[in-house]
Amino acid sequence: MIVIAVISMKGGVGKTSATANIAAALAKQLGQGAVGVIDLDPQNSLRLHFGQSNAVTTGLSSQSVQGVGWREVMYQSEYGVDCVPYGDVTESGREAFEALLEEQPDFVYQQILHAGLSEKRVVLIDTPPGPSVYLRQATNCADLAIAVLLADGGSYATIPAMEAWLAEVQAERPDFQSLYLFNQVDGMNTLGLDVIEVVRSHLGKRVIKNVIHSDEAVAEALAFQQPVSIYAPHSQSTRDLDNIAKQLALYLAQ
Ligand SMILES: Nc1ncnc2c1ncn2[C@@H]1O[C@H](COP(=O)(O)OP(=O)(O)OP(=O)(O)O)[C@@H](O)[C@H]1O
Ligand SMILES: [Mg+2]
Repeated sequence: MIVIAVISMKGGVGKTSATANIAAALAKQLGQGAVGVIDLDPQNSLRLHFGQSNAVTTGLSSQSVQGVGWREVMYQSEYGVDCVPYGDVTESGREAFEALLEEQPDFVYQQILHAGLSEKRVVLIDTPPGPSVYLRQATNCADLAIAVLLADGGSYATIPAMEAWLAEVQAERPDFQSLYLFNQVDGMNTLGLDVIEVVRSHLGKRVIKNVIHSDEAVAEALAFQQPVSIYAPHSQSTRDLDNIAKQLALYLAQ
């Protein structure tokens, strides 16, 4: 099993969409049941990409507080990806869960093992933006972090803070690796393309070769509660995601 944490310092850059759509693209290559996703964000929106009914309110947060494992809240989507949703939670329930995460730095990793997720080839974890107890749990158990960036000055400015965070993790765990992924790229925006070039010149191969272009199909797919590769198989973003999944599959095979 390889654990991939999808992270960013800024909100709204496309972590959740990227987590869901990369997972679905990887499942196409690795096969049904080979990929799992975990939603470590109280927004509880990852499940929406996999068609889970709104009527289902349970998830890993309430299970954890009650001392119950995650297996029974794992949702087997029809897209080859198994999803563990965060679940609906009250304010006090969220605080109790976060206190538990503070106390047990390897809690998420232990749950992954107990829920049978370790039988998967790949597990992706979606996180909220910026430093948090969730980001710490995700990076504590990740083999690889994918930091999502927009091709703009705002995301560029977050790279030093992200690098400092990643360096801390790597100091404790030398095998930990990290890559950057540009999302919502507009091929006509020269300033944006310049930002990508500057970041590539500094970070080299740590920037994933393919970007995810800005594509209405990504937002539309969410409205239909499907991965974009199912909703719009011939779209630009599906081509991008297939290429990214191929690169990741090669990386995972190393
Ligand atoms: N490649 C893309 N092309 C067009 N729209 C996109 C793309 N990626 C994401 N979006 C849209 O951008 C918005 C934010 O995406 P998303 O929720 O995945 O970001 P996030 O980083 O998870 O946000 P948060 O920090 O709140 O968790 C959504 O409306 C999504 O549909
Ligand atoms: Mg999100």
